Amino acid sequence: MSSIVIEGNHKLSGEIAIGGAKNSAVALIPAAILCGDKVLLKNVPNISDIYALEEILSSLGVDVELGDHFISIDSSDMINDVIPCELSSKLRASYYFMGALLGKYKKVKMCFPGGCSIGQRPINLHLKGFEKLGAHVEEEDGNFTITADKLIGDDIFLDVPSVGATINIMLAAVLAGGKTVIDNAAMEPEIVDVAEFLNQMGAQISGAGTPKIEIIGVEKLHGTTYSVVPDRIEAGTYVIVASLLGKNLKVTGLIPSHIESLTSKLEEAGVKLDIGKNYVRVSRGGNYKAIDVKTMVYPGFPTDLQQPLVPFLTKCHGISHIEETIYENRFMNIPDTVKMGASIEVFDNQYASIYGKSDLVGKVVVATDLRGGASMVICGLIADGITTINNVEHILRGYEDIVGKLRKVGAHIKIVD
Ligand code: EPU
Repeated sequence: MSSIVIEGNHKLSGEIAIGGAKNSAVALIPAAILCGDKVLLKNVPNISDIYALEEILSSLGVDVELGDHFISIDSSDMINDVIPCELSSKLRASYYFMGALLGKYKKVKMCFPGGCSIGQRPINLHLKGFEKLGAHVEEEDGNFTITADKLIGDDIFLDVPSVGATINIMLAAVLAGGKTVIDNAAMEPEIVDVAEFLNQMGAQISGAGTPKIEIIGVEKLHGTTYSVVPDRIEAGTYVIVASLLGKNLKVTGLIPSHIESLTSKLEEAGVKLDIGKNYVRVSRGGNYKAIDVKTMVYPGFPTDLQQPLVPFLTKCHGISHIEETIYENRFMNIPDTVKMGASIEVFDNQYASIYGKSDLVGKVVVATDLRGGASMVICGLIADGITTINNVEHILRGYEDIVGKLRKVGAHIKIVD
């Protein structure tokens, strides 16, 4: 287990470049096997979730090469083997192999996916979607066998606009017969990215980015080259860092409209943001006032930025409120933030009140999950003294070279084994 050690309270200047989106790349990679050809994905983040997907592909006999921000995937000699549990349990997104293998072979066998323990995270809507397309789902002790004689398009209404279910149903439906309509679909930029990629391979998907997605099944998909959309959560995380410590700090290579729910809140708190076509710059931090945030599905405030926002709220004057509506267990970062000197109360694991402004001091803390870990990094950056964050493997699953990127702009941060 590695740790990140930070000496806090140093101003940050220069540029932080944003990479490709984790939550898009982890869907595009399983999606690539839907064609029997070669796919080249560019702008792929160098994070451990991608290595885990590479291992799954190799276990299925796929010819895969992971290089400097690219992955090439040739599934022409692929075999539809059972995905070993120790591989699928490494990451949440392994569930996209359910839709992809079902769509391609009409049969898939795998275990319940892994990922951060931030809530119950059921997959009932994914399974309901597969069943609507004509599949039969069997489950025994978390092992799923999903089979279909053939898949036929249908109208599928999602009880909640789930990102995973929307993408998984698209993957299962692109090669199905007839038309599939997903209603109350999730609208996140990652959904649009996956639909654009599938269309570039020959799929017929319309409406991605709206609550109603239509998929006309096609016989076959072909290989392509595609570049992953910028990571809006990585971008948002560094814009929060810039708001706290920026001395002419520019976050580049992002799509500002994808993080408008964050930037509008930061501006409401008093942050002066210079927002360009593909960058956000903070010249100098300031005196901020408390704000209220409620997590929502896109385009609302993303749950994935809720934890990274907490250190910012400790620096706002007054009482800020957070309402977490997506996950049942996404305040695991709060006890350590309080240990560092913040004044925060959590109610019913759904609401938090942050009484600001507080000065944080360095402590030994832990990354309980990916975004909670990012939150602790930001706490360390703004604290007096030394912060040591243990269990940082969680952070490295989703943030490419977080230590290198922050060091380059002046942070006193290192990773130790
Ligand atoms: N839900 C159900 N049934 C389902 C699926 C989801 O009830 O079958 C519920 C969940 O319990 C949750 C809500 O719907 O309360 C939203 O879940 P969603 O399916 O949208 O989340 P996900 O697909 O499991 C992805 C990201 C998460 C991100 C959420 C929301 C990936 C691999 N993960 O998860 O990312 O929080 O969408 O935007 O794309 C992260 O990056 O740190 C992360 C957790």
